Amino acid sequence: MDALFADEAFDRRPRVIRPGAVWLPGFLDEAAQSWLLRQFEVWQSGPVPAHSTVIAGHPMSVKTIGLGWHWRPGRYDREAVDVNRERVLPFPEWMTRLGRTVISATAEVVSREDARAWGFDADAYCPDVALVNVYDEHAKMGMHQDKDEADPAPVVSLSLGDTCLFRFGNTENRNRPFEDIRLATGDAFVFGGPARFAFHGVKGIVPDTAPAHARIGHLGGGRINITMRTTGRD
Ligand code: SIN
Ligand code: MN
Repeated sequence: MDALFADEAFDRRPRVIRPGAVWLPGFLDEAAQSWLLRQFEVWQSGPVPAHSTVIAGHPMSVKTIGLGWHWRPGRYDREAVDVNRERVLPFPEWMTRLGRTVISATAEVVSREDARAWGFDADAYCPDVALVNVYDEHAKMGMHQDKDEADPAPVVSLSLGDTCLFRFGNTENRNRPFEDIRLATGDAFVFGGPARFAFHGVKGIVPDTAPAHARIGHLGGGRINITMRTTGRD
């Protein structure tokens, strides 16, 4: 790939994208990325396969696996009612610890005062669902809000595999102001507080950008994104 378009040519320092939204490039080291990709293989062979959720009659180009809960627009269930009716895998305990580590790491660029105001409290962070989204090189996700959760705790996002063009916008509408960033393998992104209900989406995948350790073998490339959320349900 032309060096001009390699991730290194972009500013990849941790920063606040807008109040409540924090990007931590390269948060996961190579070993952690490889380990997560091995977990993904387990999830793939789990009771509920990665499936295209249908939104308003249209299957998403992204395929999703839910851990803890099964997501459909507007609701969460324990069983994959629209796939095979199997109960989804539990939300892994280690993922809570990982989410807390990400929230703690935002302290590098977030003042204590802002962290308090935004609900960035690692000790109190108890996500109960992870949506694992699988993108092939053609998959996209339109601008949307994550608003099916009753608890406004921050969302923690982790990216693996090929880089994507991620758009993070405002809470009012799908239009400007927004910022386009390149989420690469190992990057963490947190949105909570005043950014919790900001519109965001994936404009596209940049094929063949994953380094060897993060290539998603069975897809021949592509990207995986994990978002942890707190449903507020029991
Ligand atoms: C999502 O908005 O649920 C996923 C975002 C991403 O894939 O980075
Ligand atoms: Mn989302």
